[in-house]
Amino acid sequence: MTQRTGGLYRLLYFSGFYQWFQDLLGDRAFMRAVADDWIRPRPGDRLLDLGCGVGSLLAYLPQVQFVGVDHNADYIERARQRFGKRGTFLTVDLNRLQYDPGWIGGFQIITLICVTHHLSDSEVLALFGTLGKFLAPEGRLCLVDPCFHEDQPWLARQLAKRDRGEHVRDESEYERLAREAFASVRAEVRQGILRLPYSHLFLEAHGPRGDHRHASRE
Ligand SMILES: C[S@@+](CC[C@H](N)C(=O)[O-])C[C@H]1O[C@@H](n2cnc3c(N)ncnc32)[C@H](O)[C@@H]1O
Repeated sequence: MTQRTGGLYRLLYFSGFYQWFQDLLGDRAFMRAVADDWIRPRPGDRLLDLGCGVGSLLAYLPQVQFVGVDHNADYIERARQRFGKRGTFLTVDLNRLQYDPGWIGGFQIITLICVTHHLSDSEVLALFGTLGKFLAPEGRLCLVDPCFHEDQPWLARQLAKRDRGEHVRDESEYERLAREAFASVRAEVRQGILRLPYSHLFLEAHGPRGDHRHASRE
């Protein structure tokens, strides 16, 4: 198990409590910043949101072709109720993610928003290794995750240590994992987007390694 499940963390499994808690933390401003400043999708893009939770990102996107997947069936049901036909929502464990030819393919954007700190290094690398099958030739991965970094305020570090996901990493560790799987990676740390002091790594990656379409770049 890669996320904390005891005590108060247990309540977060229920979509209603989870959504209320996220709102309390300032999730709306956070998602707005993630969508407008980092993902910057164009209308009509195909976007695959991995670990989509209750689908909150979709509220901040233009008219895109959206597929969201999460392993929590209660979150997926709430996302369907919130967004109806604006998106396709599927209950899928990322550790068993497989390309289904029935899906819309060729995603211009794949997002992992606050998800990989729930996965071990080997799970992250296995997941990254499959993404080439889903991405369009010039597609990109947009990842945001809580992180540790130098000169981090004490409280931000303590909160990150207690995150539900048990694999919050140093900023350089996220980058190292991405560089093992992608030819081109850029990343930066941003602070103060939530109401609580929290640091997030914003990372963008192109050119999945092992994908023949990108072999000439390596
Ligand atoms: C902190 S939440 C972020 C949710 C959403 N991306 C957002 O930003 O609102 C982490 C999400 O990752 C999902 N998750 C964690 N491990 C997963 C796995 N192995 N397969 C699918 N989803 C997973 C959780 O169910 C949860 O919805």
